[in-house]
Amino acid sequence: MRHFSVLEHLAGQLNPLCRVLDLDPTTPLDLLTALLGPHGARSLADPPAWPSDIADDHSPVEFSVAFNNNEPPALRILAEVPGLPPGINANTQAAYAFLADNAARFGLSTQRLDAVRDLFATAQPVGSFALWCSLVFRHGRDPEFKVYFNPEVAGVDRAPELVAEALGRLGLGDSYRMMLARSIRPGELGRRDRLAFFALDLHDGPQARVKLYVSHYDADAADAARAATVVDGVNPDEVAAFCLAAGGGHRFRGRPLVGSYTLAGGADRPVGYSVYVPIRDYVDDDLQARDRVAAVLARHGFSTAPLHRSIAAVSRRPLAAGVGLIAHVSLRLGPPRPGVTVYLSAEAYEVAQPRSVWLPAA
Ligand code: TRP
Repeated sequence: MRHFSVLEHLAGQLNPLCRVLDLDPTTPLDLLTALLGPHGARSLADPPAWPSDIADDHSPVEFSVAFNNNEPPALRILAEVPGLPPGINANTQAAYAFLADNAARFGLSTQRLDAVRDLFATAQPVGSFALWCSLVFRHGRDPEFKVYFNPEVAGVDRAPELVAEALGRLGLGDSYRMMLARSIRPGELGRRDRLAFFALDLHDGPQARVKLYVSHYDADAADAARAATVVDGVNPDEVAAFCLAAGGGHRFRGRPLVGSYTLAGGADRPVGYSVYVPIRDYVDDDLQARDRVAAVLARHGFSTAPLHRSIAAVSRRPLAAGVGLIAHVSLRLGPPRPGVTVYLSAEAYEVAQPRSVWLPAA
């Protein structure tokens, strides 16, 4: 049997996803091809060239569909650009090369990136990555680029000072102190509460953002609700209700609940909050995950048709036959674009088995 290549598999998902979301697939497919580089030609019969933490099965890419309150859903790709040969620092170099190749064409602004990138560079990186990229595609617009740094790249203990220095350089130090005070449980910084990602938009517009993500291990809906209270205009009850609905009422003892803060210049506190529920750890299978996500979307006023069609675009297996296709679901509150995002795994290498298997009576 002939196996698909990495690019064939991912393009075979991206193309129909674009159709579902009424996006021209040309640029997304070009950028996917560029992201993967020579790795795109690898056979899926071979193990992943790099055990990327983007996805559980080490696919180098994760898709997401962002439902927006005031505009059509957007398509996003989160990716680790594989180096040649791959490695944390080689992948980082490959990501910078990918960005440089596309900077002129898409008018990327690297001012903020250039101001902080030295902080997250180290000869001996710790953890699973140093730099990831994401691309956002909206109807009739150029793609937007984002980068994600690993705050713990020089060790868990150094993360708070790296982030403090980075945000200080960007003029956002006040917001940082405010959000730490509200989102970190006493004594838990670097323990159950971890600085997970530091993200920058690579454009200059008034909506360009800096985001800081905190992972809350062994947490519950009330922890996220409290973390959200630092942002004006965000209703903590809405955050808690979302965590309960998406997480099925479980305490998050497996994969962590993640919160992110959107920081903007000129404000002394964050202007937006998002919460990400790792739904795949709190369901038996993807059928249950899909039903929960559909309910959450409906409750937030979104049509569920694009969800069903997006799922059909990335996977043809029965939803009850695996778990993890729907990896996270998030609620975004505050500017620039409130809404709900659904993260869809590529499952290029593997489908995780459902947790409980229905057995016919003998
Ligand atoms: N796969 C990793 C995780 O689940 C990183 C990741 C990918 C992630 N997409 C995400 C984390 C969305 C939070 C939200 O942790």
